[in-house]
Amino acid sequence: MNIQWDAEKYTSDFSFVHKYGNSVTELIEAPEGSRVLDLGCGNGVLTGALKDQGFQVIGLDDSKDLLSVAEKYFPDLEFIHADATDFSLREQVDVVFSNVVFHWIDREKQPDMLRCVYKALKENGEFVFEFGGQGNNRLIHEALAKAFAEQGYSYQVPFYFPSIGEYASLLEQADFEVRYAVLFDRMTELMGEDGMKDWIRMFISTPFYAVPETQREAIRNRAVELLKKDLYRDGKWYADYVRLRMRAIKGDGK
Ligand code: BEZ
Repeated sequence: MNIQWDAEKYTSDFSFVHKYGNSVTELIEAPEGSRVLDLGCGNGVLTGALKDQGFQVIGLDDSKDLLSVAEKYFPDLEFIHADATDFSLREQVDVVFSNVVFHWIDREKQPDMLRCVYKALKENGEFVFEFGGQGNNRLIHEALAKAFAEQGYSYQVPFYFPSIGEYASLLEQADFEVRYAVLFDRMTELMGEDGMKDWIRMFISTPFYAVPETQREAIRNRAVELLKKDLYRDGKWYADYVRLRMRAIKGDGK
C-alpha cells in the first residue's frame, strides 16, 4: 500500500467513504467497552465513531499524512503507524474492524495481513470489514483501459476486488470462521461537476506512472467522456461501487 494521500482533500471531498462506513460498524456484536482495532483507520473518522459507540479504540494506518489528520481531530485516541500486512499489538483486541482498505493490498499479501489480524485478536474475537468486491468500479476501469489503449498504453486494475467465495476461502485458510458475507452494488454520488475526474485523480495513480505527465490529463478527460453516458445523471456523477462486507470469528486453529 504505497500511496501518497492528499489527506485534507480525501477528508473534505470524499467524506462519503466514512459516512457509509458507519453502517459497517453495526455488524460488530461485541459489547460496549470491548477493545477494537480500526485497521487502516485513515483520517480516524470511523475510529472516533467507534469510540462514540462505547468501544475502547486504537487506530492503525501506514500513511503518516492521514494519521496526522486523525491525531488532529482525535487527540485523545491512540493511533499506531504500521503496515496492515506486518503489525503486532502489545495487547490483543476483541474486534478488528476495517473499512475500504483491503482492496489496496495485493492478493499475495492478503495472507500476511490475515495472519496479523489473527494474532491481534483474542480467542473468539470478531473480524468485521468492508471493501471493494468483485466487479467494483467495473465501468470506470473499463473506460480507463480504453483511454489508456487509445494512447498506446496498457492499463491494469491496481486493486484487489475478490468474490465472496475467494475471500471466504482465504479467511478459512487463515483459521477464521465466516459468519456473514454479502456482495452488493452501491452507486455512490461524487461531489461536484468534476466529480469523476477528481475521483480518478485521487484514487488512480500507479497506472499513470508509465505515462508522460503531458498525456495524463488527456487520458483522464477521455475516460470521463466515455463514462458520461453511464455514470452522469441529472447533473451528478456516480461511482459504480460494489461492496464486499463480511464478519468472521477467530477459530481455534484446529
Ligand atoms: C472502494 O472504496 O471500493 C475504492 C476506493 C478507491 C479506489 C478503489 C476502490
